[in-house]
Amino acid sequence: MRKPVIAIDGYSSTGKSSISKIIAQKLGLVHLDTGALYRGITYFALNNCIGKDGEINLPELFSRFNEIELKFKPVNEELVMFLNGEDISKQIRSNEVSENVSLIALQKEVRDFLLDAQRKIAEKGGVIMDGRDIGTVILPNADFKFFLTASVEERTKRRFLELKNLGLDTDENTVRENLLSRDKTDSEREVAPLKQAEDAIVIDNSDFTKYETIDMILSYLKDF
Ligand code: DC
Repeated sequence: MRKPVIAIDGYSSTGKSSISKIIAQKLGLVHLDTGALYRGITYFALNNCIGKDGEINLPELFSRFNEIELKFKPVNEELVMFLNGEDISKQIRSNEVSENVSLIALQKEVRDFLLDAQRKIAEKGGVIMDGRDIGTVILPNADFKFFLTASVEERTKRRFLELKNLGLDTDENTVRENLLSRDKTDSEREVAPLKQAEDAIVIDNSDFTKYETIDMILSYLKDF
């Protein structure tokens, strides 16, 4: 029996990745956190492509895509992101990466570079992929599309806790500003902006726990 292809899009810190991970485990699907790919490229750029002005040199980054190998590998039952053999799962959550990732994600060259790899993963079915443009651009024919949203206050709390648990030093104001500015850049960019697919099921999970959101999504999937 073919397993479903599921697209989960939505705003930053609505729980897309952690929810997708648990659903993948329950249903035996592959989970791809596409935000981690954009974060991985941002981490590479910050370490290798800084111009004399101290900013990321985009043309240099585009000319060095052939030096970037991003892979997810299982470590202690978790899929962990590796860049050229180095575990960068913690580094890609840093404030520095979060502050620069939207600039990287709005570049057409970057999106083109990642497009085929994402589609290839879904070819055989049995995938849950979370991001911003999965239901609209990457997998427009997905069997199920969900769009997650939540209040800014709730999302700030969640991201702050996530960073604290990772041992990263930050405060709620910085987290809130970063969320708002990323949402704005992600929604307003020309290429593959963050937007709800017309056929997506919208879930506002401001008042739901992670497990309530998961149960709601599973209730839509049960007849597949
Ligand atoms: O899901 P996240 O917060 O880790 O994503 C990091 C950034 O990557 C986010 O600001 C927007 C961008 N992104 C994107 O443009 N398209 C995707 N499919 C996934 C993430």
